[in-house]
Amino acid sequence: MSKPDLGFVHRFVPASDPARPPLLLLHGTGGNESDLLPLADRVAPSAALLSPRGKVLEYGMPRFFRRLAEGVFDTEDVKRRAHELADFVEAARKTYGIVKPIALGFSNGANIAAAMLLLRPETLAGGVLIHPMAPLEPETPPDLKGVPVLMLSGSEDPMSPPASRARLESLLREAGADVRHETVPAGHGLVAEDLAIAEKWLSAR
Ligand code: MLT
Repeated sequence: MSKPDLGFVHRFVPASDPARPPLLLLHGTGGNESDLLPLADRVAPSAALLSPRGKVLEYGMPRFFRRLAEGVFDTEDVKRRAHELADFVEAARKTYGIVKPIALGFSNGANIAAAMLLLRPETLAGGVLIHPMAPLEPETPPDLKGVPVLMLSGSEDPMSPPASRARLESLLREAGADVRHETVPAGHGLVAEDLAIAEKWLSAR
Protein backbone atom coordinates (compact mmCIF):
# COMPACT_ATOMS: atom_id res chain seq x y z
CA MET A 1 0.00 0.00 0.00
CA SER A 2 1.43 3.39 -0.91
CA LYS A 3 1.98 5.82 1.95
CA PRO A 4 -0.63 8.62 2.25
CA ASP A 5 0.62 12.15 1.64
CA LEU A 6 0.02 13.84 4.99
CA GLY A 7 2.31 16.77 4.26
CA PHE A 8 5.44 15.27 5.84
CA VAL A 9 7.76 12.52 4.64
CA HIS A 10 7.26 9.98 7.42
CA ARG A 11 7.30 6.38 8.54
CA PHE A 12 4.57 4.61 10.43
CA VAL A 13 5.08 1.34 12.28
CA PRO A 14 1.87 -0.27 13.61
CA ALA A 15 1.76 -1.44 17.22
CA SER A 16 2.29 -5.07 18.03
CA ASP A 17 0.86 -4.30 21.49
CA PRO A 18 -2.12 -1.96 21.00
CA ALA A 19 -2.26 -1.31 24.76
CA ARG A 20 0.92 0.79 24.52
CA PRO A 21 0.47 4.47 23.66
CA PRO A 22 1.84 5.42 20.23
CA LEU A 23 5.02 7.46 20.02
CA LEU A 24 5.63 10.50 17.82
CA LEU A 25 9.37 10.37 17.06
CA LEU A 26 11.09 13.70 16.45
CA HIS A 27 14.71 13.56 15.35
CA GLY A 28 17.53 16.04 16.00
CA THR A 29 19.21 18.35 13.46
CA GLY A 30 20.52 16.36 10.49
CA GLY A 31 18.38 13.34 11.30
CA ASN A 32 15.50 11.79 9.43
CA GLU A 33 12.37 9.69 9.87
CA SER A 34 14.39 6.48 10.33
CA ASP A 35 16.80 7.78 12.99
CA LEU A 36 14.87 7.16 16.18
CA LEU A 37 13.15 3.89 15.21
CA PRO A 38 15.81 1.65 16.85
CA LEU A 39 15.79 3.83 19.98
CA ALA A 40 11.99 3.66 20.18
CA ASP A 41 12.13 -0.08 19.82
CA ARG A 42 14.36 -0.11 22.88
CA VAL A 43 12.42 2.26 25.12
CA ALA A 44 8.88 1.32 24.03
CA PRO A 45 8.95 -2.09 22.32
CA SER A 46 5.77 -2.89 20.40
CA ALA A 47 4.31 0.64 20.49
CA ALA A 48 3.00 2.20 17.26
CA LEU A 49 5.56 4.67 15.88
CA LEU A 50 4.85 7.78 13.83
CA SER A 51 8.06 9.37 12.63
CA PRO A 52 8.06 12.48 10.41
CA ARG A 53 11.08 14.15 8.83
CA GLY A 54 11.62 17.86 9.64
CA LYS A 55 10.92 20.05 6.60
CA VAL A 56 13.42 22.85 7.23
CA LEU A 57 16.82 22.36 5.66
CA GLU A 58 19.89 23.93 7.28
CA TYR A 59 22.79 23.40 4.87
CA GLY A 60 20.99 20.26 3.71
CA MET A 61 20.29 19.00 7.26
CA PRO A 62 16.63 18.42 8.14
CA ARG A 63 15.23 20.26 11.19
CA PHE A 64 11.75 21.00 12.51
CA PHE A 65 12.11 24.81 12.52
CA ARG A 66 14.49 27.56 11.46
CA ARG A 67 17.15 28.97 13.74
CA LEU A 68 19.04 32.20 13.25
CA ALA A 69 22.16 30.91 15.01
CA GLU A 70 22.93 28.08 17.39
CA GLY A 71 20.41 28.35 20.24
CA VAL A 72 18.72 31.43 18.66
CA PHE A 73 15.37 30.40 17.25
CA ASP A 74 13.20 32.06 14.60
CA THR A 75 10.16 32.27 16.87
CA GLU A 76 7.63 32.95 14.10
CA ASP A 77 8.87 29.85 12.29
CA VAL A 78 8.75 27.80 15.52
CA LYS A 79 5.07 28.75 15.89
CA ARG A 80 4.17 28.05 12.27
CA ARG A 81 6.00 24.73 12.23
CA ALA A 82 4.54 23.58 15.56
CA HIS A 83 1.02 24.12 14.19
CA GLU A 84 1.92 22.42 10.91
CA LEU A 85 3.28 19.39 12.77
CA ALA A 86 0.24 19.26 15.08
CA ASP A 87 -2.00 19.26 11.97
CA PHE A 88 0.07 16.37 10.58
CA VAL A 89 -0.36 14.42 13.84
CA GLU A 90 -4.12 14.92 13.74
CA ALA A 91 -4.35 13.79 10.10
CA ALA A 92 -2.06 10.81 10.75
CA ARG A 93 -4.18 9.73 13.73
CA LYS A 94 -7.21 9.48 11.45
CA THR A 95 -5.30 7.75 8.65
CA TYR A 96 -3.62 5.17 10.87
CA GLY A 97 -6.34 4.90 13.51
CA ILE A 98 -4.18 5.71 16.53
CA VAL A 99 -4.86 7.54 19.79
CA LYS A 100 -2.97 10.70 20.82
CA PRO A 101 0.74 9.95 20.78
CA ILE A 102 3.42 10.69 23.34
CA ALA A 103 6.16 12.73 21.64
CA LEU A 104 9.70 11.46 22.02
CA GLY A 105 12.08 14.10 20.74
CA PHE A 106 15.81 14.61 20.83
CA SER A 107 17.44 18.07 20.67
CA ASN A 108 15.68 19.99 17.87
CA GLY A 109 12.98 17.29 18.01
CA ALA A 110 12.56 17.86 21.76
CA ASN A 111 12.24 21.59 21.13
CA ILE A 112 9.47 21.23 18.55
CA ALA A 113 7.73 18.76 20.89
CA ALA A 114 7.91 21.39 23.66
CA ALA A 115 6.53 24.02 21.25
CA MET A 116 3.61 21.72 20.36
CA LEU A 117 2.86 21.11 24.04
CA LEU A 118 2.81 24.88 24.66
CA LEU A 119 0.88 25.89 21.50
CA ARG A 120 -1.31 22.86 20.74
CA PRO A 121 -1.71 21.21 24.14
CA GLU A 122 -4.59 19.02 22.94
CA THR A 123 -2.42 17.21 20.36
CA LEU A 124 -0.16 15.08 22.52
CA ALA A 125 -0.71 12.62 25.37
CA GLY A 126 2.68 13.51 26.85
CA GLY A 127 6.30 14.03 26.00
CA VAL A 128 9.80 12.70 26.51
CA LEU A 129 12.03 15.68 25.85
CA ILE A 130 15.66 14.64 25.53
CA HIS A 131 18.07 17.58 26.00
CA PRO A 132 15.50 20.34 25.31
CA MET A 133 15.44 24.14 25.60
CA ALA A 134 12.54 26.58 26.00
CA PRO A 135 11.55 27.12 22.34
CA LEU A 136 9.22 30.11 22.88
CA GLU A 137 7.05 32.01 25.33
CA PRO A 138 3.39 31.20 24.62
CA GLU A 139 1.07 34.23 24.32
CA THR A 140 -1.84 32.31 25.85
CA PRO A 141 -1.17 29.97 28.79
CA PRO A 142 -1.81 26.39 27.62
CA ASP A 143 -3.84 23.87 29.58
CA LEU A 144 -1.67 20.81 30.15
CA LYS A 145 -3.40 19.66 33.32
CA GLY A 146 -2.11 16.20 34.21
CA VAL A 147 -0.18 15.72 30.94
CA PRO A 148 2.94 13.72 31.79
CA VAL A 149 6.26 15.15 30.59
CA LEU A 150 9.73 13.73 31.15
CA MET A 151 12.56 16.23 30.62
CA LEU A 152 16.07 14.84 30.39
CA SER A 153 18.91 17.34 30.55
CA GLY A 154 22.66 16.83 30.20
CA SER A 155 24.63 18.29 33.12
CA GLU A 156 27.34 19.51 30.72
CA ASP A 157 25.16 20.31 27.72
CA PRO A 158 26.73 23.33 25.98
CA MET A 159 23.68 23.80 23.68
CA SER A 160 21.00 23.99 26.35
CA PRO A 161 21.69 26.71 28.97
CA PRO A 162 20.41 25.78 32.47
CA ALA A 163 18.20 28.91 32.52
CA SER A 164 16.46 27.81 29.33
CA ARG A 165 15.75 24.30 30.65
CA ALA A 166 14.50 25.77 33.93
CA ARG A 167 12.22 28.14 31.99
CA LEU A 168 10.77 25.25 30.01
CA GLU A 169 10.18 23.28 33.19
CA SER A 170 8.30 26.18 34.79
CA LEU A 171 6.23 26.89 31.66
CA LEU A 172 5.12 23.25 31.64
CA ARG A 173 4.47 23.15 35.40
CA GLU A 174 2.52 26.44 35.33
CA ALA A 175 0.35 24.89 32.58
CA GLY A 176 -0.44 21.98 34.92
CA ALA A 177 1.75 19.31 33.31
CA ASP A 178 2.99 16.48 35.50
CA VAL A 179 6.70 17.15 34.94
CA ARG A 180 9.64 15.00 35.92
CA HIS A 181 12.98 16.67 35.15
CA GLU A 182 16.12 14.57 35.46
CA THR A 183 19.68 15.72 34.84
CA VAL A 184 22.03 13.03 33.57
CA PRO A 185 25.84 13.19 33.39
CA ALA A 186 26.07 14.06 29.69
CA GLY A 187 26.73 16.74 27.11
CA HIS A 188 24.27 17.35 24.28
CA GLY A 189 24.47 13.80 22.90
CA LEU A 190 22.21 10.96 23.97
CA VAL A 191 23.59 8.67 26.69
CA ALA A 192 22.56 5.30 28.14
CA GLU A 193 21.04 7.00 31.23
CA ASP A 194 18.62 8.94 29.01
CA LEU A 195 17.37 5.70 27.53
CA ALA A 196 17.15 3.86 30.84
CA ILE A 197 15.08 6.65 32.44
CA ALA A 198 12.89 7.05 29.35
CA GLU A 199 12.22 3.32 29.18
CA LYS A 200 11.10 3.15 32.82
CA TRP A 201 8.98 6.28 32.51
CA LEU A 202 7.29 5.06 29.32
CA SER A 203 6.59 1.61 30.74
CA ALA A 204 4.45 3.32 33.43
CA ARG A 205 2.22 5.10 30.86
C1 MLT B 1 20.16 21.44 17.71
O1 MLT B 1 21.30 21.13 17.44
O2 MLT B 1 19.24 21.01 17.07
C2 MLT B 1 19.96 22.39 18.85
O3 MLT B 1 20.61 22.02 19.94
C3 MLT B 1 18.55 22.54 19.21
C4 MLT B 1 17.79 23.31 18.19
O4 MLT B 1 18.39 24.03 17.40
O5 MLT B 1 16.56 23.20 18.21
